[in-house]
Amino acid sequence: MRETYVHGYDSRENERLRDQAGILVELLHADTHYPAGSKVLEVGCGIGAQTVTLGRRSPEARFTSVDVSADSLAEAKRRVDLAGLTNVEFRQADIFALPFDPASFDHVFVCFVLEHLARPVAALTILAELLEPRGTITVVEGDHGSAYFHPDSAEARAAIECLVTLQRAAGGNGLIGREVYPLLVEAGFDAVRVSPRMVYVDSSRPDLVDGFTRKTFTAMIEGVREPAIAAGLIEAERFDAGIRDLRRTTEAGGTFCYTFFKGVGERR
Ligand SMILES: C[S@@+](CC[C@H](N)C(=O)[O-])C[C@H]1O[C@@H](n2cnc3c(N)ncnc32)[C@H](O)[C@@H]1O
Repeated sequence: MRETYVHGYDSRENERLRDQAGILVELLHADTHYPAGSKVLEVGCGIGAQTVTLGRRSPEARFTSVDVSADSLAEAKRRVDLAGLTNVEFRQADIFALPFDPASFDHVFVCFVLEHLARPVAALTILAELLEPRGTITVVEGDHGSAYFHPDSAEARAAIECLVTLQRAAGGNGLIGREVYPLLVEAGFDAVRVSPRMVYVDSSRPDLVDGFTRKTFTAMIEGVREPAIAAGLIEAERFDAGIRDLRRTTEAGGTFCYTFFKGVGERR
């Protein structure tokens, strides 16, 4: 079964995923490295925003990157080719119907995908079976409840809540970051370790102000303006005030915090 994907696939969303991956490379991937010759499955690769980093950081590992969206895969392939990488192959597939034999991979990597699934534990259980014994899974998820900022704003918090509510209605969970540990444990993984990765932004970091607060987080919230208003979750004026206040945090004196959660577990 394929769930509704709350962010959609338009070019603005693709741009947002690119900005997000670019600015977060060190924070999320400084400790992501796969040994030479290992077989790595990346699930939900989207437009390849993480794939390029994975392929570059582990040039001698072999990646298989899958997604349900043919358009996203075409863009991912274009980006991987542009980066000159030859260690990635792509397959179009649904996480719940993957065309691989049990124990086909040494490692699995999943980033910003479980938040969109109604059955994350079922997905993780499927992925566990594709791993060799003692193979690892790496899961990266955000948690929109971890966003706090200065100046604080009830309108901004209400706009963020619209995304959480819409995602829940679509079967997903925008607050999944805090559940990465229990989900991995419930899916039967061993030696689970989760590390929070906090992004803190103030005006002394113009790269993060632009790349994260503005182009990643605020753009993501702006992306649900129409559906949130159409669903009667919020009035247009209140939503727009929330976006204005999020932008205010990117000005002098403003600050913004958000936490990602990176979990690693081993197949028993
Ligand atoms: C937020 S994007 C993340 C893409 C990429 N991992 C990144 O970090 O930029 C989520 C991706 O998961 C994919 N996806 C959602 N449900 C899926 C499913 N059931 N099977 C495979 N891919 C799925 C979507 O098509 C989308 O490309």
